[in-house]
Amino acid sequence: MALRLGDTAPNFQAETSEGYIDFYEYLGDGWGILFSHPADYTPVCTTELGSVARLKDEFAKRNTKVMALSVDGLESHKGWISDINETQNTEVNFPIIADEDRKVSELYDMIHPNSDENFTVRSVFVIGNDKKIKLIITYPASTGRNFDELLRVIDSLQLTANYSVATPANWKQGEDVVVSPAIKTEDIPAKFPKGHKVIKPYLRTTPQPDL
Ligand code: BEZ
Repeated sequence: MALRLGDTAPNFQAETSEGYIDFYEYLGDGWGILFSHPADYTPVCTTELGSVARLKDEFAKRNTKVMALSVDGLESHKGWISDINETQNTEVNFPIIADEDRKVSELYDMIHPNSDENFTVRSVFVIGNDKKIKLIITYPASTGRNFDELLRVIDSLQLTANYSVATPANWKQGEDVVVSPAIKTEDIPAKFPKGHKVIKPYLRTTPQPDL
């Protein structure tokens, strides 16, 4: 059955461009992103992996480790990494799984046969430090992903894991957040001493509490 939000992210061991890795050991106590791309030596994937590499410091700030995957082999990955480094002004600094036997692709349902029988789609799994799946998104081969959006989502996931808040549409780090419906309006001042606004009884906002 396909994985869903809240499920435990299945562990696996895999050959990668950085050696044989146990996924859980790689993640340690932090957060993780596992993402697939259709194939090595393809243009959109080249720009995507370059973008992820350039965001290394941003992922590190969020205690998040990244791992990529395609069904190409190790030698292919290694040759392609040189091309990414050369053309994308960066150095690939995360492992790429060589999933030739499709073990991990099938475990995470990354091959969608009605889209393409042979290649993985652009799947993304964000995994919390409790090893639960927090976000799943799927893009087609023709559309490169927005990795700044992934950073934004991780900011929201990490904030809302620690405070009784949710983040509104298009929220960005530093902007006001929504108080959880589970909190009674009369209890807000004690929980959120920076202030709050009641726009409707069900729509209460407060400054981002962890800043
Ligand atoms: C690409 O990464 O450019 C790509 C891969 C598969 C199909 C279409 C585009």
